[in-house]
Amino acid sequence: IEGRNAATWVFGYGSLIYKVDFPWLRREVASITGWQRRFWQGSHDHRGTPEQPGRVVTLTRVPGWRCKGVAYLVEHSVFDHLDHREKNGYERIATEIRFERDGETADGVFYIATPDNHAFLGDAPIEEIAAHIARSRGPSGSNRDYLLRLAEALRELDDRDEHVQALASLLRQ
Ligand code: BEZ
Repeated sequence: IEGRNAATWVFGYGSLIYKVDFPWLRREVASITGWQRRFWQGSHDHRGTPEQPGRVVTLTRVPGWRCKGVAYLVEHSVFDHLDHREKNGYERIATEIRFERDGETADGVFYIATPDNHAFLGDAPIEEIAAHIARSRGPSGSNRDYLLRLAEALRELDDRDEHVQALASLLRQ
């Protein structure tokens, strides 16, 4: 039962890895199983506008696939902040999180944008996704910076995410 000050693990696989604008109790490199990171969600409020949405990451179900990221143990009040920050089509899903350091697991949540949300864009040829990112910008900055910061953060975690790294090389050309 969640008490008023209960702490919960939240797993970040996108901007939560590098943009930590909330207090946390513990931070651990971690992974979840069964999900793959993809630039399939439209961003109307951060890296694009309602007229010209940018492209940001969400997770798509791929059985057996491991997605690496960072888990934060946060107090429940932090969700008010995160729910607002991720309000553009994301919902919270319960998951098991595995910590890289010791292989231990814990229950937690992550944010996902599913295909039925209004801002979802879905798959497209990689060159098209790259071109879309190259021309998009919103109140949080350019979509290009979002991609390159994520690519850098994933490299620091030793994660070889081919989708993200392929997009980053196209953007750097
Ligand atoms: C994440 O980093 O996990 C994340 C960031 C924004 C929206 C959804 C997820």
